[in-house]
Amino acid sequence: MMKRAAITAVAGYLPENVLTNFDLEKIIDTSDEWITTRTGIKERHIENDPNKATSDMGVEAVKLLCKKRGISPEEIDLLICGTVTPDLVFPSTSNLICAKVGAKNAWGYDLGAACSAFIYGLSTGAQFIETGRYKKVVVVGADMMSRIIDYKDRATCVIFGDGAGAVLLEPTEESVGIMDFILHADGNGATYLHMKAGGSLKPASHETVDKREHFVHQEGQAVFKHAVYNMAEVSAKIMEKNNLKAENVNWLAAHQANKRIIDATSSRMGIGPEKVMMNIERYGNTTAGTIPLLLWDYEKQLKKGDNIILSAFGGGFTWGAVYLKWAYDGSKTGK
Ligand code: ACO
Repeated sequence: MMKRAAITAVAGYLPENVLTNFDLEKIIDTSDEWITTRTGIKERHIENDPNKATSDMGVEAVKLLCKKRGISPEEIDLLICGTVTPDLVFPSTSNLICAKVGAKNAWGYDLGAACSAFIYGLSTGAQFIETGRYKKVVVVGADMMSRIIDYKDRATCVIFGDGAGAVLLEPTEESVGIMDFILHADGNGATYLHMKAGGSLKPASHETVDKREHFVHQEGQAVFKHAVYNMAEVSAKIMEKNNLKAENVNWLAAHQANKRIIDATSSRMGIGPEKVMMNIERYGNTTAGTIPLLLWDYEKQLKKGDNIILSAFGGGFTWGAVYLKWAYDGSKTGK
């Protein structure tokens, strides 16, 4: 019997401090009306403690995950952390999370695929379970975007927020779990979405700081066009590949970058808004955090056997979709 990797628990963490569209109106030339109609975002969580970093959000999510599943962090075999905002260039944020939660028997690594990092990590982590090598793999999606956002650039600072989500993957012999995935990448997209300095190409210098090059650079319209097309296409393709009709899909959990991109995806899939998980209005775009945070928010409504399509598009460009069959009744575990 083929082993599958099933999500057996989900958890999340958001910093307490909330930055609303009205707060942003006071620091840049924008309006609640512009942000709401262009993106669907109303507020986002921002970590304002300078001593906290991405690993600290990951730690909270992983602690809650272990508590909900009733396991000790020492049982974790592998922890993959999707992030573009690691605490440090090295060591990896995965290593830091493991050390802080006491996951002494785990190894792990960071996965850099921007907004697609969670689905890349989920697909990768599932392989270690399916081969029978590991019994407990944690996939974290965590980004403290506020640390790489220029709050003088109104076209990017309204979009992003901080947050982390985590799932536990365990083996099952039932027909649930990660059923299929389609993943893509096109590095030519770097032109439109990247950070100019801080890497080996352009290490930090007085000049890079003066030129505000340590922040997200995004050409919004170009990214928007690619995101709308590719996220919708790959979501429709994974349905087709698995003979799923719109009526067989219970939920869409799409990366929360812009409500208009999500609407285009659900309409290409032929599914109504009642099946579309949405929390962008409260969290904004938390990059690798969006999809696990959606699963965490909607967990109570999920039933064993639900067909869920996860899809994402992000910096790279990277994009893809995962077909997931939910493995337990969420109402029994709650948040
Ligand atoms: N408030 C008011 N006006 C604004 C704001 C703002 N916050 N931001 C931009 N504008 C203005 C612009 O200056 C421009 O004015 P102009 O016409 O006078 O020059 C006008 O609004 C239109 O600007 P656009 O950039 O064309 O606005 P657009 O409708 O494209 O919306 C947005 C911008 C929301 C960024 C959109 O392009 C988008 O969502 N892009 C995709 C984002 C995405 O999916 N990213 C991938 C994931 S992120 C990751 O991987 C890290």
